[in-house]
Amino acid sequence: MTTKVITVSNQKGGVGKTTTAVNLSHALTLRDKHVLLIDLDPQGQCATKLGMDSQMGTYYFLTTQPGSSSEITFVRQWIRDTGRDYLHLLPGNSMTAAAQMMLSVQDQPISYIKELLKIFSKDRLDYIIFDTSPSVGGLQERAIWAADLVIIPTATEFASLDSLSKTVTTIHTLRDKKNWKGGLLGILPTFFDGTNESRDSILDLQATFKEKVLSPIHRATVLRECWSEAKTIFEYASGTRAAEEYRSLASLVLKY
Ligand SMILES: Nc1ncnc2c1ncn2[C@@H]1O[C@H](COP(=O)(O)OP(=O)(O)OP(=O)(O)O)[C@@H](O)[C@H]1O
Ligand SMILES: [Mg+2]
Repeated sequence: MTTKVITVSNQKGGVGKTTTAVNLSHALTLRDKHVLLIDLDPQGQCATKLGMDSQMGTYYFLTTQPGSSSEITFVRQWIRDTGRDYLHLLPGNSMTAAAQMMLSVQDQPISYIKELLKIFSKDRLDYIIFDTSPSVGGLQERAIWAADLVIIPTATEFASLDSLSKTVTTIHTLRDKKNWKGGLLGILPTFFDGTNESRDSILDLQATFKEKVLSPIHRATVLRECWSEAKTIFEYASGTRAAEEYRSLASLVLKY
């Protein structure tokens, strides 16, 4: 079986990466897909947003050399059952930053994370989804290189469009210079609120990225509230527009 890898990335903070990674993961499991969400952000928020403890699973994933079956078993032991059917999490915490440091000191190849994903080859996963941290660096680049598809959430305000171009440049560089075979699923406008500023920023995005601009996720208080309840949008407010928008994103992913 083939496992599709999706990386959610934007070096700008607070644009909805984790919200997207967590809700997209849950949406895919509700369509009977088996999903492993991997938290590459030292903030460890994927776990807390799912009502779980942040842990050093990602650290061990990134630093254990999977040479033998016992090492593979060791890393796989850090996969946590989220209590939701088909949804599994490799939780991260602040130690992920230490792993990132080691990676850059060791000057590991761009294929480093893709190679490590072989650890999960027996887990019968339909999707592996990476949530990444708001910075550029070795981890983000290698997570993009490991991806079949990349989603770039972008808040619909001018300030965040500037930083978007840096993430897009990274993608182009990886494709042109590092032989990356994956592609951009799309730019996901977030915090859309129908104001002129919001509309203009979508027009700006479309002028540059054309059909790669996905349907926006509206600014929605429920998306903020559900985190304090440690629930996904489908558990907290399944009948809302926000839930529908993340269901649509999952439908789009399923077409690839
Ligand atoms: N569409 C939305 N409407 C309203 N609030 C949202 C929306 N999307 C995300 N939020 C809220 O905005 C905050 C930032 O979102 P999130 O943590 O997903 O961003 P992030 O890009 O992962 O941030 P970081 O770069 O720090 O990892 C959170 O409190 C989240 O609940
Ligand atoms: Mg985040």
